[in-house]
Amino acid sequence: MSVVVPHIIKFDSVDSTNALLKELAQKGANEGTVVVATTQHAGRGRGGRIWHSPEGGLYFSLLLKSYPNRRPTDMALLAGAVMAQTVKHFCPQPCLVGVKWPNDCLLEGKKVGGVLCEAIDHGDSAALIIGVGININTPLSELEPFMGRPFGATSLREGCGGKCFELESILERFLKVFFEHYPKYLEEGFLFLQTLWERECLFIGKNVELRNTGTTEESKDNAGGVRGTFLGIDEQGAIVLSDSCGNRRSYVTGEMTCCW
Ligand code: BTN
Repeated sequence: MSVVVPHIIKFDSVDSTNALLKELAQKGANEGTVVVATTQHAGRGRGGRIWHSPEGGLYFSLLLKSYPNRRPTDMALLAGAVMAQTVKHFCPQPCLVGVKWPNDCLLEGKKVGGVLCEAIDHGDSAALIIGVGININTPLSELEPFMGRPFGATSLREGCGGKCFELESILERFLKVFFEHYPKYLEEGFLFLQTLWERECLFIGKNVELRNTGTTEESKDNAGGVRGTFLGIDEQGAIVLSDSCGNRRSYVTGEMTCCW
C-alpha cells in the first residue's frame, strides 16, 4: 500500500466538514484530503444528533478513497482509539483518558470527543469519510447544555487545569498516529484493531448497562436495557458482555453507561 500523505484544507465556518468533504470527494478530491473548520453550523453527531461546534474545538474530516471492502465501523473504532491516544499525549499530567464503546473519547469520565464515519459511493471500492470532533479549548459555557447527558461533556482545556492548546498540533498528531496504525490494520486485519481498541478502552472488566441494544441475532427482547461485564469487542466490532450466569452475548448497537 502506498503511503498516504494528508492534505489539509482549512475553512473558517462550514455546515459540516463531513458534508463538505463528501462534496469534494464527489468532485475528485484525493485520498488523504482533510477538511478542518473553526466552527460548524450543522455539525453531525452519531444517531442523527447535532454536534455542537463552537470556536475552540477541533472539527475535521478525513477522506479514505481506497478503503478495501471492509466495514466502515472498523475505521470509526480505529479513529476513536487514535483520538484517545492523541488526547492522552497532550495531557500534561497523567489523566484518565480512553474510549467508550464504540468510539467516544472520555477524559476523567466525561465525553471530550466523538467520531462519525460515513461511507460514500466510489466505484468498486468504498470511500469513507472519518469525521472527528474534539472539545479542545471549548469554553465551559458552551458545554453546559450537554452536562446532563450520560458522561456529561468536557474539553481538553477543562480536563488539564485551564491550559490552552494549539489545534493544529493536535490535528497533526492525530493524523500521524492514524497513518501509523492504518497500514497495520490493512496488513494484519481486525485482530490488530481489536487489540489496539481494547488497550484504549476504559471499561474492560467493568459492569456496564446497554440501552436500545441490537444483538447480532437481531433479538428485540432487550427494550429495557441489559447489564453485564464488559469483556471486549468481537470480530464484528460488537460489544461483548457476560451476564450474571457467565453467558457471553454480543450487541451491535446500544448506548453504554457504566454501573460503577
Ligand atoms: C458523536 O456523536 O459522538 C460524533 C461526533 C462527530 C463530530 C464530527 S465534527 C467533524 C465532523 N463533521 C461533522 O459534521 N461531524 C463530525
